[in-house]
Amino acid sequence: MKQIISLFFAIILFLNAGFAQEIKSPNQLVTLQFSLQADGSPSYTVHYKNKAVIKPSKLGFELEKDPVSLLNGFTILDTKTSTFNENWNPVLGEVAIINNHYNELAVTLHQANTQRKLILRFRVFNDGVGFRYEFPQQKNLVYFTIKDEKTQFAMTGDHTAYWLPGDYDTQEYDYTISKLSEISSLFKGAVTGNASQTSFSNTAVQTSLMLKTAEGLYINLHEAALYNYGAMHLNLDDKNMVFESWITPNANGDKGNLQAPCTTPWRTIMVSDDARDILASKMTLNLNEPSKISDVSWIKPVKYVGVWWEMITGKSSWSYTNDYPSVQLGVTDFANAKPSGTHGATTENVKKYIDFAAAHGFDGVLVEGWNVGWEDWFGHAKDYVFDFLTPYPDFDVKSIHAYAKSKGVKMIMHHETSGAVRNYERHMDKAYQFMKDNGYDAVKSGYVGPILPKGDFHYSQWAVNHYQYALEKAASYKIMVNAHEAVRPTGISRTYPNLIGNESARGTEFQAFGGSKPNHVTIVPFTRLLGGAMDYTPGIFEMDISKMNPNNHSHVNSTLANQLALYVTMYSPLQMAADLPENYNRFPDAFQFIKDVALDWSDSKYLEAEPGDYITVARKAKGTDNWFIGNVNGNNSRTSTIQLDFLDKNVNYEAIIYEDAKEAHYKTNPQAYMIRKVTVNYKTKLNLFSAPGGGYAISIKKK
Ligand code: NOJ
Ligand code: CA
Repeated sequence: MKQIISLFFAIILFLNAGFAQEIKSPNQLVTLQFSLQADGSPSYTVHYKNKAVIKPSKLGFELEKDPVSLLNGFTILDTKTSTFNENWNPVLGEVAIINNHYNELAVTLHQANTQRKLILRFRVFNDGVGFRYEFPQQKNLVYFTIKDEKTQFAMTGDHTAYWLPGDYDTQEYDYTISKLSEISSLFKGAVTGNASQTSFSNTAVQTSLMLKTAEGLYINLHEAALYNYGAMHLNLDDKNMVFESWITPNANGDKGNLQAPCTTPWRTIMVSDDARDILASKMTLNLNEPSKISDVSWIKPVKYVGVWWEMITGKSSWSYTNDYPSVQLGVTDFANAKPSGTHGATTENVKKYIDFAAAHGFDGVLVEGWNVGWEDWFGHAKDYVFDFLTPYPDFDVKSIHAYAKSKGVKMIMHHETSGAVRNYERHMDKAYQFMKDNGYDAVKSGYVGPILPKGDFHYSQWAVNHYQYALEKAASYKIMVNAHEAVRPTGISRTYPNLIGNESARGTEFQAFGGSKPNHVTIVPFTRLLGGAMDYTPGIFEMDISKMNPNNHSHVNSTLANQLALYVTMYSPLQMAADLPENYNRFPDAFQFIKDVALDWSDSKYLEAEPGDYITVARKAKGTDNWFIGNVNGNNSRTSTIQLDFLDKNVNYEAIIYEDAKEAHYKTNPQAYMIRKVTVNYKTKLNLFSAPGGGYAISIKKK
């Protein structure tokens, strides 16, 4: 009998083997082919303009305590193709209307010897392919644990990669640009001081991963709609140039506990021969569900200043006292603790920032170090450090609230959790209610240090579920969220538009922790920003950090004009003017650009782009006829030629150009900038110089 059954399965597999089905993108340029191999293992390829992008690559899973797993022995039960074409309007965004147009192939697979079903859903867009695994409700697959996801991305050659080491806890690295074959030898050097406790493979890199082929194809590998699953890194078999999914494990080492019916996140492959298409792609957002928040009237763009850079540079401190460990939350009477004398978040100092915000038209003021717990912070080992409710004695919540209100400025809350996830969840309702009671509509949360309970990672299924819990809970209080050190976003701001920002990459703070590479900002939009907005905190005018803190010899590797351009090149509805008010007061003419620049756009045109070298984008401010242009430049000086043919015809505009002076250089002469006014129209062509680590910013208004 057994033999007959085996023969029967063998015949079915034989009949299915070689089965291949193809779908194309709406413009016919991207082709996805799905097939079953001889042993019944699913596999796919991707082509762009008839050239291979992804060579035959396997799909499937190893399951815990399940020798059969979901790797092979499949037959095809059913295939369905369909087309979808719809426009939708993001609440806040780079454009007012997003077109979601794809052709879909859904393949239902049947694993005969286990009687299990698995659906593979592919969506082919003009800008690439997204696919995911779906586990329908079924008798023989209910609760299961992923041992390993075995999704392959077989490369066609030794491409150039813009990569970050595959850490499970942080993306706060500089990028390394190298051939795929060089990753393993460069890996150690790429893991800088902030590496976590994770032990990684020296060929695992983070997504979003940007790649460029020798023939000039731009490829991006990432994921969309990451829910209830560990974040995906990619591990490279560098003999065969095949990437395989490398899922962040939970504390016990498994790669996720699931219950059918459920789906994985989408695995995405963007492709174009024009780098600008990658920046303009809306595929990640399109693979997410429409908004689950019906009343979005309270979700607004936020331009803000904050009691922040002074702590980051070491000019002042988060903590009220240095009396550690004699003070303890709930034990010590803080009114009697000895003040350190360097505390930043004093009522008096905060009021100065409120005055500055009001005088220059900012929406909000962020204050860090306002609450008890920072004196104990560096321990990172305790679960009770913060309660998010108890201010230090020199921070008067009520009077600050009243003062801000009288000046028309909103306070922005700060919740540093120190990675103590359960502690945050325990206090969350009270903490959010406290915000509402005291006039705070937005929270910057943070997860510095190892996740507690110990052993879990920032990007594990368990932690991903926490960030989502916090986001949904915040939505129920009408609170906007900007989470730092959380998992990098995957387009979920479409579904939860109260996620107005994330850090989840190396932000400006690293310029005060030693410095970042000058071309960092020419790569981030190709990688991290594809998943959502970043709270990059630009706007630094004083590059010599020792001017703020004589003990800190860091240098900001950027020109002042480059800092202005970041408000346009780093799309975000949340933008900080990060420098100190006194530094802005020294350069009021350049500061005007930060005051003028919009945060929400009806249109965006990527004019020039090359990862690692330069990005130039023009954006139209929503509800106006005003345009803003930003250019950021990498290590070598460059002149761009841009055509303003996106302007309305037959009207003259006034353009204010903020640009690097000829002698500007990010290291030696960062503050050398020029400002000029010119009349422009749709026929105007501008030749604009950018210094090393430099750039330009332009505001354009109808005359
Ligand atoms: C790291 C965050 O990125 C930074 O913005 C914040 O000030 C510190 N953590 C303290 O929470
Ligand atoms: Ca950070």
